[in-house]
Amino acid sequence: MPVVYCFSATGNSLYVAKRIAAALGGEVRSLSRPDAVCDEKVIGFVFPAYFWGLPNLVDRFLRDLPPPAKDAYLFAVTTYGGAAPGVLGAVGKRLREKGLRLSYGGKLKMPDNYLPAYTVKDSEAIRLRIDRELDALIEDVVHSKRKAVAAYTPLSRLVHRQFPAHQSDCDSHFTVSAACTRCGVCGRACPVGNIALPPEEGPRFAHRCELCLACLHACPAAALDWKTGTVGKARYRNPHITPQELIDLCAPKVAQGEPVS
Ligand SMILES: Cc1cc2nc3c(=O)[nH]c(=O)nc-3n(C[C@H](O)[C@H](O)[C@H](O)COP(=O)(O)O)c2cc1C
Repeated sequence: MPVVYCFSATGNSLYVAKRIAAALGGEVRSLSRPDAVCDEKVIGFVFPAYFWGLPNLVDRFLRDLPPPAKDAYLFAVTTYGGAAPGVLGAVGKRLREKGLRLSYGGKLKMPDNYLPAYTVKDSEAIRLRIDRELDALIEDVVHSKRKAVAAYTPLSRLVHRQFPAHQSDCDSHFTVSAACTRCGVCGRACPVGNIALPPEEGPRFAHRCELCLACLHACPAAALDWKTGTVGKARYRNPHITPQELIDLCAPKVAQGEPVS
């Protein structure tokens, strides 16, 4: 059965992965759980671009992936908010290390969830454009089309070096406001189990943060901020995806608790 491995903090990539998996008659699996089995003949990777590169957990996943069959159709799709040059080249590079070739690479511009720098822009027109581009991409993948990707350039590497999550304590810049109700949603939304919630205290961060901002966007009280750029800005979740879907597909089982509405 075709499998689409997905990582998604706010649902953009999960929406894309679900649509592709449905068209292929396959299933979506989490990129944030190290339980990959790669004996399928059609394997996809769908994830957001981070600082012109891969999220750290996606890079680790690809590095540690058991090599799929040489004749497997391997595709990758990155969702991004503004520019993501070379990101798919980074996937190609990881696969080449295993003697494999990326068969198809696709990019999809979606609302930018990097709240420290931007305000999320979403509208009906944007959603229509995304669906149009996604339909074309799905058509390609369903017909096992080939599409080469641009190389991972020194400039992309330079930009990616600025990614704050290369420092594991980047979570020390999170602040928790008095609006926090200790509901635990942030801990359940975190894809790497980085947030503990002692009952009488606020969220406690364990310094293995991916800076995906899933916690910040998921908090129903908007009580989390990262540095000052996120203060007062509207939080985001892809309108096609429920909070519980994000938790079920993208967060580790150990962090799950009550369903989230
Ligand atoms: C830490 C971080 C870094 C990001 N870096 C980039 C980037 O370099 N280029 C870009 O176009 N978008 C960037 N974005 C925006 C996301 O790639 C984009 O919104 C993506 O669709 C989010 O997908 P998700 O909802 O599946 O998490 C970044 C977002 C975050 C949280």
